[in-house]
Amino acid sequence: GIVGYSSTGFRAAHVLLHGLQTLEYRGYDSSGAAFFTARGVEIIKSKGTVSQLQKRLEQCSIRSSCGIAHTRWATHGAPDERNAHPHRQGSVTLVHNGIIENHALLAKELEAKGYRFHTQTDSEVACACIDEAYQRLKDPLRALQCAQTRLKGSYAFAVLFDECPDTVYATRFDSPLIVAKGADASYVASDVLAFLAYTKTYVVLEQKQIAILHGTDIRLVDTDGQQRAPRYQEAVMDAHSIEKNGHDHFMMKEICEGPDAIERTLRTFAQTGIQGKQGRTFDLQRYRKISIVACGSAYHAGMIARELIGSEAHLPVQAEVASEFRYRDPLLDAKTLVILISQSGETADTLAALKLARERGADTLAIVNVPGSSLEREADFVAHTMAGPEIAVATTKAYTAQVALLACIALQAASGCGQIDEGRKARICRQLKELPEALSDLQEHLHLIESARRLATQEHVFFIGRGLDHALCMEGSLKLKEISYIHSEAYAAGELKHGTISLIEPGTPVIAITTESALFDKTASSIREVRARGAYVILIARQDLPVSDDLCDARILLPARDRMVQPLLTALPLQLLAYHTACLRGCAIDKPRNLAKSVTVE
Ligand code: G6P
Repeated sequence: GIVGYSSTGFRAAHVLLHGLQTLEYRGYDSSGAAFFTARGVEIIKSKGTVSQLQKRLEQCSIRSSCGIAHTRWATHGAPDERNAHPHRQGSVTLVHNGIIENHALLAKELEAKGYRFHTQTDSEVACACIDEAYQRLKDPLRALQCAQTRLKGSYAFAVLFDECPDTVYATRFDSPLIVAKGADASYVASDVLAFLAYTKTYVVLEQKQIAILHGTDIRLVDTDGQQRAPRYQEAVMDAHSIEKNGHDHFMMKEICEGPDAIERTLRTFAQTGIQGKQGRTFDLQRYRKISIVACGSAYHAGMIARELIGSEAHLPVQAEVASEFRYRDPLLDAKTLVILISQSGETADTLAALKLARERGADTLAIVNVPGSSLEREADFVAHTMAGPEIAVATTKAYTAQVALLACIALQAASGCGQIDEGRKARICRQLKELPEALSDLQEHLHLIESARRLATQEHVFFIGRGLDHALCMEGSLKLKEISYIHSEAYAAGELKHGTISLIEPGTPVIAITTESALFDKTASSIREVRARGAYVILIARQDLPVSDDLCDARILLPARDRMVQPLLTALPLQLLAYHTACLRGCAIDKPRNLAKSVTVE
């Protein structure tokens, strides 16, 4: 995450630190800041979390009105202090998000010109590249423009030039960057959250646009060299929406906010539906095929949509992770709809998949939680999940909001082609409306601690289920492994016997999900197969299914709903189980090791 600040007072250290704290969820293996002070540009860095940087800053009592700062999720080079940003070469100091793909080639050229590199990062090479241009051209703006022609890959930069005190330069390509205007200062950040405590007025930088911040003066320069007046917008969220509000962890707070997130998402979808760019109207009937593309949990939400749209609207639907889709030479045409799902709307692989889909003539629909995100801006159509800011790295409410929105699209698709009768449609709509209450009720009555205790001591856990339940197993397993560090795998229940069952030993926990009557007997057989080999089975089942006592060791029962609605209930115990298990193991719930909330690099 990046944050930069220029003002008339001397609050740079405080503001930058606060900004980093709000951005920490985007990476937290090291952090650092650079300030203009009476002694010139001073850099302070630290390995580890932002609190470690804070200690260093407190020791130095920096007096500065302008600086840049960074919290890192390592791509090139180990997460140590040396590789932490800011980087410095010549008279240029910079922080960088993204990946410079041609860094090795550039480094060779720059070394031949006398530059020496002290870190293993591509960012330091970018810094030298800008400095080399700056030394020749003696003009920061032209130096940045020149560097842009040489750098390949993705970047968001905030840059200080020694000779331009109290001024921050910023630019970006394929990595988000936002500039904001406050009463007595200007800000640049990779995420609105970083300056929300000070101002809500911001503008998203265009690709390769350059921003120059000096006090409250903000200048934007387009790629053609022309100055452009900023078109500001107002952030809709509040600073308090990113506080824990009495919860021990953001993750728990966000699980509890799930019902509201769903309610807002459904309400907004009922009001605005799917919005088209340039006056285009969305009509699902015109597509012959749907490809759903996403990463991580958003992909798991997409797997649910594949099941629902595929079976209820009888359309060929695929779901695929973006990092595979984009390198597979996918068959797409004007009759294909590519649905891209992303909480942040900034995930590099998902964004690249969208560009590929557009190049191949397919229509694109972005489902995003962050309004104004890159994915939204580049897609033909957009629909918003309304989960609000999500801080815990492990997504919960944003995932559930995605599932809710996708259920609405599936319902629309099914009714659009006459595959669903009016009675069922009315029932589903009623159940969706009553869902927030049903979820709050369910959360109150769930008793998961015993199961969490059982899981907390294990090294391996398996999840099994079929169809929709398999998609939920994938998410339940991801949630558990990312925050508790227990190895877990999700299997299509019928597939386990083709290899993985060899890992089942007496006592191995297997979490089995069964919520569809049509598949119940089949899943019950798979459960018996693992029980026969000694597995400890925790069953998550719809309460009206005929679960016999000998089928499991522990059970979690769910109220029965239409299959369009059921996944939204099933997700809740999975999220809570992962949360309680990780708590019992004393894990860093909101910031699991090695992860970042939003992965804006490939
Ligand atoms: C990261 C996060 C995951 C998330 C995935 C996709 O890996 O740790 O929780 O599901 O990115 O993020 P997106 O913002 O595109 O939904």
